[in-house]
Order: sequence, then C-alpha cells, then structure tokens
Amino acid sequence: MDPADRPVAMFDSGFGGLTVARAVIDLLPDENIVYFGDTARYPYGPRSHDEVRGFACQITEWLVRTHDPKMIVVACNTASAVALDELQAMVDIPVIGVLEPGLRSLLEVTVTGRVGMIGTVGTVASGAYQQLSAELAPGITLTCAACPGFVEFVERGETRSDQVHVLAERLLAPVQEAKVDSLLLGCTHYPFLARTIGDVMGRDVVLVSSADETAFEVQRAITETGTGRRGGPAPTRRFVSSGDVETFARLGRQLLGPELDAVEAHQW
Ligand code: DGL
Repeated sequence: MDPADRPVAMFDSGFGGLTVARAVIDLLPDENIVYFGDTARYPYGPRSHDEVRGFACQITEWLVRTHDPKMIVVACNTASAVALDELQAMVDIPVIGVLEPGLRSLLEVTVTGRVGMIGTVGTVASGAYQQLSAELAPGITLTCAACPGFVEFVERGETRSDQVHVLAERLLAPVQEAKVDSLLLGCTHYPFLARTIGDVMGRDVVLVSSADETAFEVQRAITETGTGRRGGPAPTRRFVSSGDVETFARLGRQLLGPELDAVEAHQW
C-alpha cells in the first residue's frame, strides 16, 4: 500500500474523540481515517489507571494489526493522561495525545494567568495536566475540577437539558471561584456540552478545546514523515464501535456530521 493511503487511526471511549475526528477531517480532508469508539466499555473516567492503560494498549495493538495506520491519535484525555508514554514505546509509528495540544491552546488565550481545566476523575487524579503545566508555564495558576457524569450525558445524546445544566452549576463551582479567564475542556466529550458549560461560566471565560490544536499536531507529524495524502480517490472514513453500532451510527452522525455513515462492529 502507498504509505500516504495508510489511515490516521484515532480512538476514544465513545463519542468524545469525534470532536478530534471532526477537526482532522476539516484540516486534512484527503486523509483516510479509522475511528474506534470503545462504547462497550465507556466511561473510562472512573476506571483505574491500570485498566485504562490496558484498554489503550489493546486498542492500539488492534488498530496497528488490522488497519496498518500511519499514526495513532489518542483522542481521549483519560487514556492520554495515563498511557501515552507506554503507547509511544509500544509501536513504531507516531502516537499523538491530546493533553499537550490542549494545554498549549489554553496558554495562548489566557490574559490573567488564572486558567482552569475540567476533565474526568481519572484525568484530574492522574496529575498529568498539573505536571505538564508546571513544566510548560510555571507562572500559571491552574485550577482543575473533575466533572463525573458529563460523559454519560453526551453518550446518551443529552447535550442540553435542565439536568445537565444543574450538574454543570455544581461541578464548575471550583473553577468559577478561582476566577479563571479561560477553561480547557480536558475531556474530548465536553465540547459537545460547550453551550451549557459556556452558559454557566459566563461570556468572559474563553472555552478551549484540544481538537483543533491536536489536528495541527497530526498535520505536523504527517509533514515530518512525508506521508500526506493529496487528491486521488475519495478518502475512506471508517468508524468502528465495540458497543451497539446502530446507536453509534445514529448519535455519531448527529455529533460528527454526514461523514459518519456506516459503523462496523468489533467485539473484544
Ligand atoms: N473522552 C474521554 C476523555 O477525553 C473519556 C471520557 C470517559 O470515557 O470517561 O477523557
């Protein structure tokens, strides 16, 4: 196979990584992509770090073996936080996570230096963002808050409701109290709740998602490895789910757009 035709592979626990897939499709419309949503085992956030690491290794091994991708995008903060180093050591293609791109975008927009990050319990507890921010921008004050329950709302397709609003008011209190001027949506599911999160945080707080910056990172890696795909036959976009494929197709199309057509099943 022409190396340019090898797909960009991405994975997440479910629908969240579709925010990254959207950005990659928009920035690199000629690339073939394969997306795996581990909906049978979501949410990853409350699971132990070892368990998430195990899932991430299993998915990466499977993607490499069955799809021969040119790179892997870990389109999940929880998996990036606990497994990125291990995945990079495991395969000989580039493995891109979402933490550093997200944090870089956040640092670009802050004026006051008081920034916030919201993510899953697993991501916040891993300390990965706290460590990275101390390395990249020691002068910054980062307030982190876990938002258990947000992912489940997205996976149910409930992105705007009174219930999710009430939950957001409670969970976002620590970052509101810290008077942050910008807030990183440190879980790839959260951009789907941006309206609710924005309503609660108010207009003065800039919401930052890691999706666009991660897509630029993918573009950089493609340029560096000289494996960009230009023109030729229409790109293939394959979507695979370990859960119910009909639900994935219906809700996924709503969240990603028309590029999500058929969904293939994979059982562990
Ligand atoms: N979307 C993922 C993340 O960015 C996983 C969320 C979950 O499954 O709990 O953390």
